[in-house]
Amino acid sequence: MDAATGPTGLGAWHALEAHYGQVKDIHLRALFSDDPMRADRLSAEGAGLYLDYSKNRITDETVRLFGRLAEEAGLAERRDAMFRGEKINTTEDRAVLHVALRAPKGTSIHVDGRDVVPEVHEVLDRMSAFAAAVRSGSWLGHTGKRIRNVVNIGIGGSYLGPEMAYRALRPFSDRSLTFRFVANVDGAAFTEATVDLDPAETLFIVSSKTFTTQETMANAATARAWVVDALGGDAAVARHFVAVSTNAEGVRGFGIDPVNMFGFWDWVGGRYSMDSAIGLSTMIAVGPGGFGDMLAGFRAMDEHFRTAPVAKNLPALLGLLTVWYSSFFGAQTAGVMPYSAHLARFPAYLQQLQMESNGKHVDLQGRRVTYDTGPVIWGEPGTDGQHSFYQLIHQGTRLVPCDLIGFSRPSGAVPGHHDLLMANLFAQAEALAFGKTAEDLAAEGVAEAQIPFRVSEGNRPTNVILADELTPRTLGSLVALYEHSVFTQGVVWDIDSFDQWGVELGKVLATRIIRELEAPAEPALEHDCSTNALIARYRRRRADGDGMVS
Ligand code: F6P
Repeated sequence: MDAATGPTGLGAWHALEAHYGQVKDIHLRALFSDDPMRADRLSAEGAGLYLDYSKNRITDETVRLFGRLAEEAGLAERRDAMFRGEKINTTEDRAVLHVALRAPKGTSIHVDGRDVVPEVHEVLDRMSAFAAAVRSGSWLGHTGKRIRNVVNIGIGGSYLGPEMAYRALRPFSDRSLTFRFVANVDGAAFTEATVDLDPAETLFIVSSKTFTTQETMANAATARAWVVDALGGDAAVARHFVAVSTNAEGVRGFGIDPVNMFGFWDWVGGRYSMDSAIGLSTMIAVGPGGFGDMLAGFRAMDEHFRTAPVAKNLPALLGLLTVWYSSFFGAQTAGVMPYSAHLARFPAYLQQLQMESNGKHVDLQGRRVTYDTGPVIWGEPGTDGQHSFYQLIHQGTRLVPCDLIGFSRPSGAVPGHHDLLMANLFAQAEALAFGKTAEDLAAEGVAEAQIPFRVSEGNRPTNVILADELTPRTLGSLVALYEHSVFTQGVVWDIDSFDQWGVELGKVLATRIIRELEAPAEPALEHDCSTNALIARYRRRRADGDGMVS
């Protein structure tokens, strides 16, 4: 990338701008009718995933220009720098090495002259021993009862990945164990997660990279009190709490013995951490073997990303298509619709992965970018979404490119449903691409006055991602697919996909406001007049309700 000009100064960017002018009005109907081999060519396979990207508003020339853009933006160099452990997270001066979390034993990746792979495997081995002890019942609670409930306390990357993975892999999980996830600082989240649990049978995993996050610390303190009150003393903490963190001091300060801590490193971003020790709950659910299979899936996609040419490289294609729609077509959002109830939380997981990574307004030099970066990511499982917001995607005025994810074999055992589910996926991709014309409707005998309302313009792009079955391995491949897609976007947009400074301001202000809410006497408020009034009203109304603070 030319630091002086950024991506918009690249020849490939200019060529894509000119090319956009040529293709923007071409309908997918024309692209398909002119080219019956299009789906063969515009598809790719890797790490157990099949990507049909033919229903995008692209031609072979677009794909060629994608390759040129990747080359001129330096995608291969930045990718290799990441895999080598270079500090490509420049604003935090950190390496970005989630790929080291799935590096095989015996390989080496160095950060600051230190091989991190043996450390990764040392933690994996400790996690495996612990997970096996909980699963077998040999890890006992303070009163001698075996653990039947596992509650992960954490937020953001310390929550979304574990919860998503647990739900995705429930058919592979030990169904005799109950798993719950507490993220929100709303006390209702803790209450609802624990109301039916016996403290004597409950293990808390306090997951926090920093071990300072306000919500997690508050929930962990509540959990500690819940256990200590029920089981009669601090001694219970050792058998009912473990921690996952990079902050051993913080863990010790909370009262968890560091022998019950599973570490990770500052080169693992929170949203890239579900395959680190942050995945301890996943490992307890599916066992060390299942977790190892998931890591193998991640690794397979890493290899694919490292070696496949752009036109056959799933993450690079997904990333470049996202750039194409965001920066050239001006699409503001992108949908992700998994046709799998087990992947219900996958869109939420991807929201953090993509929006915290690529929701950036300055480039690596700190200059305001002149192009749109990461889109708003959203989605719900199909077929649920079809009966709700798909209407807007089919007939609204906005362009919403969507990824539709499906599986050849079901992960639930109820007969007769899966063909129905997949028929809907294929039908949606077809309907979105080709729509229904006024002529079609007239030929079907639809009354003329009705025709404008019934026309579906089509030309709505989709990627269809298929895998054989949702297994731990598939999940690993799928997550790594999106990790590297996000990486590709960030390289082209010339932004730091690995910092998250934007979330800091709200945290700082909340810390100030909590003091103002807790002050016994009316504090002097020095915010803007709106915030002052909201705080004052809250204090007044709260007092009316419980009489605590005047
Ligand atoms: O507020 C954003 C964030 O820093 C995320 O990046 C991170 O995943 C989350 O908070 C939780 O952080 P921690 O794991 O340190 O508690």
